[in-house]
Amino acid sequence: MLDILINFDFHQPKRFLFLCQYSNFFLYMELLGIDIGGSGIKGALVNAETGEMLTERFRIPTPESRKPDEMAQVIKQIVDHFDYSGPVGCGFPTIVKNGVCISPGNLHKSWVGVNIDELFTEATGREFTVVNDADAAGYASMNYGVGRGKQGLVIMITVGTGLGSGAFHNGELLANFELGQIPYKKYKKIEDWASSGAREREGLSYEKWAKRFNRFLKYVETIVAPDLIIVGGGISKKWHEFAHLIEIETDVVKAELMNHAGIIGAAISCLREQHHGHLS
Ligand code: BGC
Repeated sequence: MLDILINFDFHQPKRFLFLCQYSNFFLYMELLGIDIGGSGIKGALVNAETGEMLTERFRIPTPESRKPDEMAQVIKQIVDHFDYSGPVGCGFPTIVKNGVCISPGNLHKSWVGVNIDELFTEATGREFTVVNDADAAGYASMNYGVGRGKQGLVIMITVGTGLGSGAFHNGELLANFELGQIPYKKYKKIEDWASSGAREREGLSYEKWAKRFNRFLKYVETIVAPDLIIVGGGISKKWHEFAHLIEIETDVVKAELMNHAGIIGAAISCLREQHHGHLS
């Protein structure tokens, strides 16, 4: 925190105004993080200095349509629930470039081309920073979790409705790394075969699913030769069920922030965007 303030460029009036406007943002570092998933939309207040969640997680099921307007209404309910007026950071389960949705992921196809930042700002009256959900989970692990201080190529894999991936080289994010999109056998993308969504759809035991996940990790290892793989998302709660079945050369560890990494990373992503620099 201190180094953020020390390095802050106070000669830039716009940024200074921002600092004043959101005094709680810098003094208390209390930020709202929202993690949008295929089955649930979850939010919590986060202490951006320590990465701790300051409130219980508030979750609303993702509307079945998975369409922009319905989902924006859920975002509004979450912001209202926390009675929060500062900037909001949000993890979104598709490719996101400059706040715009580039691919449908597992959401409705009408999302493509939507400026998500603007849509959510309009719905809530709050300033939004929207980033890919796996990139957000990666921010959390790289700043407060098991990835802190790790050099080389670190890949964060989130296992949920889809397979998300966030890549960090010497701590710097390489945005929108989409390893779950590799085609596999008859599947358009490997996430349709090896995600939690696939496990649930096909009623697979953890053991059977872990074989698939291991195959996916082997591909990741072959394609990008990472130094460390961190596994997060809903499945990390069941780590004990499958960890012993992962057999690749690369170190594979559990995101100890588990499923909360998405919310924590989302919250701090707005800090990163405003500061344009390292968090740690
Ligand atoms: C999307 C990714 C996302 C992942 C996890 C995939 O379908 O393409 O961008 O990170 O799901 O939500």
